Amino acid sequence: MTTRQDAPPAGEGAGLKDGVLQTMQRAGAGIAQLTSGLSTGLLALLLVLWVAVTAVTSLVGIGLLMAPSVLRALHALAGRERARLGRWGEEVIAPDPPPTELRAALADPTTRRELRWLVRHATLGLLLGLIGALLPAAAVRDLTFPLYWPLAPEDATATSIGLGTAHSWPDALSVSLLGVSWVLISLGLTPGMARVQARPGRRLLVAGPEVDLSRRVAELTATRAAALDAHAVELRRIERALHDGTQNRIVSVTVLLGAARRMLARDPAGAEELLERAQSAAEQALAELRSVSRSILPPVLDDRGLEGALSALAANCAVPCRIDVDVPQRCAASVEATAYFVVAEALTNIAKHSGASLATVTVRSAGGRLRLRVQDDGRGGADENGGSGLTGMRRRVAAHDGTLSLTSPPGGPTTLQVELPCGS
Ligand SMILES: Nc1ncnc2c1ncn2[C@@H]1O[C@H](COP(=O)(O)OP(=O)(O)OP(=O)(O)O)[C@@H](O)[C@H]1O
Ligand SMILES: [Mg+2]
Repeated sequence: MTTRQDAPPAGEGAGLKDGVLQTMQRAGAGIAQLTSGLSTGLLALLLVLWVAVTAVTSLVGIGLLMAPSVLRALHALAGRERARLGRWGEEVIAPDPPPTELRAALADPTTRRELRWLVRHATLGLLLGLIGALLPAAAVRDLTFPLYWPLAPEDATATSIGLGTAHSWPDALSVSLLGVSWVLISLGLTPGMARVQARPGRRLLVAGPEVDLSRRVAELTATRAAALDAHAVELRRIERALHDGTQNRIVSVTVLLGAARRMLARDPAGAEELLERAQSAAEQALAELRSVSRSILPPVLDDRGLEGALSALAANCAVPCRIDVDVPQRCAASVEATAYFVVAEALTNIAKHSGASLATVTVRSAGGRLRLRVQDDGRGGADENGGSGLTGMRRRVAAHDGTLSLTSPPGGPTTLQVELPCGS
């Protein structure tokens, strides 16, 4: 069983280490975001060329035949960019589907905004994406130059910017200093560059305030209903647990106490035995009460935070479980509780049904969302209609305006992914 927990920060050294680690993580995310923008940037460039050809040939009529497919491609690419931006931060809510008929499209504000985005993304966005992809490549090339320098041809260019040749060891080492500066530039600039690359999309591809609101209202009405449902189910469960467990025990305590009182004068030994049984029933009632109250809001979350609580779940799981939690800030208590119950049910399912030899739980937070992933290498075939656990989990997640996806082909592996808005 492997569980991973970060050591608590110890003084300034740890603070500095955390700071460096965070800067590196931010730069890594920046580079990944820029390169993902490079792919839509290249498509945007191709589409700009296609739009230009269509516009020119429209003058002689042929282009008009191409116009609907150009418009469809534009909307598809804009949709892809919305999804990409949503993965890297706040969701970009799509406007209503724009028209594909040319005359209507020319007057349509959504299409016009998409075209303005297209031009920006095909130029500035593409350029930033290229820089984002080339910076790490240049850093690796220049940093490692002294390693392969003796093997390089005499007059080969030494640096990644195409200048200079190296004739001696000091020359080769100064090339690796250039590599260090690429690393520093990557660390300092890539997060900002990623924001600049995303800005036109975030501004131009998002739905206007009226659409945004009516959609959000519809979504919130649905999730509010789910929240109330989940709440009612939860109340019923608590009511059943109190009624069938605790209440029954307390009833037997009172019955036993009554009988003991009546017996006290004529048979003190028998009364003593009844009192003992009453005491043990009272203790059981107490234990049940404790377990019911734990299932409402697990106290381990308060004591040890999400990471500690999940590590405890992993440690108690019958299947070896690897856990990797990287959530720098605490989320709202109800979100943490939902994450906890999702992982608890997923691990119970893995132990009960999967026959797996390893489970992995990964938790990350980015862009105000908590992302959970629970995977096992078992037999797969999980089915939401097979029981109440997975359905209950989906309700809980929907109540928080989150999303849940389950992939479990026969033969495995089973992967459960849940995203929750952090709500803090
Ligand atoms: N990790 C898994 N690997 C393989 N099969 C799974 C896995 N998780 C769930 N299943 C299958 O999907 C079904 C539905 O799971 P679900 O949690 O909804 O119900 P359950 O565990 O059977 O009952 P409960 O209501 O007590 O949770 C299970 O009966 C099981 O057959
Ligand atoms: Mg289950």
